[in-house]
Amino acid sequence: MEEKRTNSGPELLVSLERGSGRPLRAQLEDALRAAVQQARLRPSDHLPSTRALAADLGCARSVVVDAFAQLVAEGYLVARAGAGTVVAPRAGAGLRPAPSRPAEPTYRYDFRPGVPDLRLFPRVAWRRATAEALDSAPAATLGYIDPAGARPLRQALAGYLARVRGVAASADEVMVVAGIAHGLGLLYRALRVAGVAEMAIEEPGGAEQRMLVRRSGLEPVPVDVDGEGLRVDDLERTGVRAVLVTPAHQFPLGAVLSPRRRAALVDWARRRDGLIVEDDYDAEYRYDRRPVGAVQGLAPDRVCYLGTASKTLAPGLRLGWLVPPPVWAGRIVEVRRRTDLGTSVVDQLALARLIDSGNLDRHLRRTRPVYRDRRDALVRALNAHLPEATVSGVAAGLHAVVRLAAGTDEQRVLRSAAQRSIRVAGLSPAYLRGSSAGCGLVLGYAGVNESAMPEAISMLAEAVHET
Ligand SMILES: Cc1ncc(COP(=O)(O)O)c(C=O)c1O
Repeated sequence: MEEKRTNSGPELLVSLERGSGRPLRAQLEDALRAAVQQARLRPSDHLPSTRALAADLGCARSVVVDAFAQLVAEGYLVARAGAGTVVAPRAGAGLRPAPSRPAEPTYRYDFRPGVPDLRLFPRVAWRRATAEALDSAPAATLGYIDPAGARPLRQALAGYLARVRGVAASADEVMVVAGIAHGLGLLYRALRVAGVAEMAIEEPGGAEQRMLVRRSGLEPVPVDVDGEGLRVDDLERTGVRAVLVTPAHQFPLGAVLSPRRRAALVDWARRRDGLIVEDDYDAEYRYDRRPVGAVQGLAPDRVCYLGTASKTLAPGLRLGWLVPPPVWAGRIVEVRRRTDLGTSVVDQLALARLIDSGNLDRHLRRTRPVYRDRRDALVRALNAHLPEATVSGVAAGLHAVVRLAAGTDEQRVLRSAAQRSIRVAGLSPAYLRGSSAGCGLVLGYAGVNESAMPEAISMLAEAVHET
């Protein structure tokens, strides 16, 4: 089998198989027909010249001329005098293109949880960090590097996580991943390989995180959460030996895992040979409470710690980090070698620069008060327009949980809000067993300006009261 590309004119990937018994002309016709049908070649796309394509495929030009002529006759191609051959304007019409995801609707007020204000992304600092990283990186850095990540970022993260989150890890123990979701996927695969079948998760917890557990072939087992975070006695009862937990800011309810629960959780892991998977997704944002360190700092041998740049910078960067206990590190690297070869090294080096230069800290110091003001405006507006609602989980993070009066229909509220161009998330998907706590909303307030909050919430209140 030969696979060649043209080296003049538009690029076109066509493969011809010599010795297959099928004439080259027929093979070329089939390949071009398929390219049009599968929309790899689209209406009005230019084809290479017959001379270039023949040279590229190593066949006589007449083979290409004849194949083009046949496809012109079939209506797939159009020959334009002096302008070469193009795909016919309506070629492939009636054929269904590969399914694509519908475009996300845009909302006037978007309270989608889990996304920071992307307008606040530190573009200038990031551009500078990227330029510095590119200027100083030796050529070898751009090759296939250690899938665990670029050395400068692992070093920067080890220092940053120790300083800001109390994580105990050397650079060797930090692994760079494409966000927490990627890190969890790797860990779950390693758990499956080791024969683990169940994963305890918080109830309520992140619906996406629960789906990831399931899609990775593990059975999610719900464990109750209360005002002190995960109920370790409930975890104990399940008999499961691995648990996913959000200690710094329980998702979605917002509790901090209390000191005695932290101690109980670590004690559980030691007694049961258990694994604590710590999802530290938004701990950098806290407003009126003291910072709480990561559980990992209390028991590095028992905790697999995960963090992300998705909330502090932007989810689109797809940059996160994983600090597994030593016994799991090698197994995760093994999974990774078989599944991917790491994340973009340029972005890794840029993040290392951003951290080392102090610009990430500066960005956090600049954005924290912005989000705190939005949170305050949200709470004020909720008190004014939805006084019957109970608001919780607002001491930290970028979202609030709002429980509505008994009997309110969550789905109807979501629909009615969407009709007013307001996006909010319901609380019920956070429950695996279903909730008895009634209707609730999860409001990510990071993307709504302080000045717009009163109008946004008064419109949301209208949506609630209409149902
Ligand atoms: C609780 C929680 N964990 C993890 C994530 C995923 O983060 P990442 O973008 O790093 O995959 C999210 C995203 O919203 C989240 O809410």
